[in-house]
Amino acid sequence: MRSFYKNVLAVALSLTTTFAFSQAHNVSSGYQKPTDPQVVENLEQWQDLKFGLFMHWGTYSQWGIVESWSLCPEDEGWTQRKLEHGATYYDYVKNYESLQQSFNPTDFNPEKWANAAKAAGMKYVVFTTKHHDGFAMFDTKESDYKITSSKSPFSTNPKADVTKAIFNSFRQDGFKIGAYFSKPDWHTEYYWWPYFPPKDRNVNYDPEKYPERWGKYKQFTFNQINELTSNYGKVDILWLDGGWVRPFKTIDQSVEWQRTIKVEQDIDMDRIGTMARKNQPGIIVVDRTVPGNWENYVTPEQAIPEHPLDIPWESCITMGDSFSYIPNDAYKPTKKIVETLVKIIARGGNYLLNIAPGPNGDFDQAAYDRLQEMSKWIDVNGTAVYSTRAAAPYHDGSFYYTQSKDGKVLNVFHLSDGEVYAAPEQFDFIVPDNFSPKELRFLGYKGKVKWSKKGNRVTVQKPKLAVDYAATIQLISK
Ligand code: GLC
Repeated sequence: MRSFYKNVLAVALSLTTTFAFSQAHNVSSGYQKPTDPQVVENLEQWQDLKFGLFMHWGTYSQWGIVESWSLCPEDEGWTQRKLEHGATYYDYVKNYESLQQSFNPTDFNPEKWANAAKAAGMKYVVFTTKHHDGFAMFDTKESDYKITSSKSPFSTNPKADVTKAIFNSFRQDGFKIGAYFSKPDWHTEYYWWPYFPPKDRNVNYDPEKYPERWGKYKQFTFNQINELTSNYGKVDILWLDGGWVRPFKTIDQSVEWQRTIKVEQDIDMDRIGTMARKNQPGIIVVDRTVPGNWENYVTPEQAIPEHPLDIPWESCITMGDSFSYIPNDAYKPTKKIVETLVKIIARGGNYLLNIAPGPNGDFDQAAYDRLQEMSKWIDVNGTAVYSTRAAAPYHDGSFYYTQSKDGKVLNVFHLSDGEVYAAPEQFDFIVPDNFSPKELRFLGYKGKVKWSKKGNRVTVQKPKLAVDYAATIQLISK
C-alpha cells in the first residue's frame, strides 16, 4: 500500500479510507509509470476518452446467471448454483459446459451496439473474449471449447467469431478496442487438472511440483493472447482479469483475497507482454492488481474512488446489477449514469459502463433507452467531458470540476439529489484562486448568462432552460 499513498492527490486523505478502498476494489499499490513512449501516448489518449462500454457475454448468458463464478468451488454469495442446473457439482459442470451446444445468439448485430454506444458518447469498448470459465468467444486454435467449434450451433453464422465482428464494428465507428481476457481458465486441464478436484478459484495443483503441466498452461495462455493480438486487427487494450494468477512474491498480504493464494502462479507476464507489444506496438496492458510493468492503469470495480488519483484509472460499473445478463435486471436510471460519469471524470478517471448482451445476442430495450437518453446529455455537455483532466477543488458540495488540458477552461458540473434534476435559482461555487474567468457559458443555453465573481466565488443566475440529469457551467480564462 505504501507507494499508493503517494499516488493519491487527496484533498483530505484519510489513510484508512484509501486502504479500505484499495483492498475491496482492486486498486493495487505501487503503480509504475510505463516508459515506452508509445504506451505513454496511448494512455494519454485513452484518458481523453472518458467513457467506454464493457460487455460480459458468454454461454452463461443462457441461464441468466453470474458469469463463470458458479463453477468456482468457493461458498460465496456470487458463486451459488441452482439445483435445477445439476444436483451435484460434477453434474452442474457437465450441464454448464453443454451450454456450448445451445448457444445461438441469432440476433447478434454488433453494428447496432456500436451505433447506440457511439451516440451515447462512448469511445472505447472492452469485450470478454474469454472469461474464467474458459469458453472462447473467439476462434482459438488452442481449444474446441469455443463459439466457432462445430459443437456450437452459431458456428455456421458468418459472424460466428463474435470477437472479430465486435472489434470490427466498433473500430469502424472510431472506438478504441479492448480485449478482456481471463488468465485463469477453469476448463483447460492445464489449470484445473481433472486428476484433482478443483478446490477454489486457484490452480488445483502445485505448479512448482508439476512444472511441466504449468509450462503447458503458460504456453496455452501465451498462444491465445498471441492469437488475439495477431488476428483481430488493431487492439488498443489488453485487459487481463484474474489477479490470483500472479508471481507469489507479488501477493499483497494486506488484501484478503490475495491471502488465499497458496502457490506460485507465475505466468511469465514479461514474455506475454513483450509478445503483445510486438504484435500491437504501444498496446496498453492491464494486468489487474499486479503492479509493475504490465498494469498500465488501475481498475476499481463497482465503485468510484473517494478522492482523485493521479495515476491512470478506470472504474468498471454495471448498468444493471450484474456484469452478465440476468432476466429483468434492474437498470440504473440515466441520471445516475450521468452522475457517475461526472464524479469519475472529476477524480481523473474513466468510466467503463457494462451492458450485458442476452442469449439472443442483443441488449435489453432498457439498455438502449439509457444509451439514447445519455446521448441527449452528452450532445450538450460533451465538451466538458472529453480530453479534460481533474481540476482542484475536484468536488465541492454538489459541484464537480474538470479542466481542459491547457487549464484555460474550467468545467463545473452541478448535480442534484432526487429522481429528477433540480437546478437552484442561483449557482454559487468556488473556483481556484488563480483562475480568472473572462467568459462563462451555461451549456445548452444560447443566450447570455448573468454571472459575477467575488473573491474566489462565482454566482450564476439560472437561465431559462430545462436541464436533464446535470447542469454544466463552462468558464473560460483567456
Ligand atoms: C468481478 C467479477 C468478474 C468480472 C469483473 C469485471 O471481478 O467477479 O467476473 O469479470 O468483476 O471487472
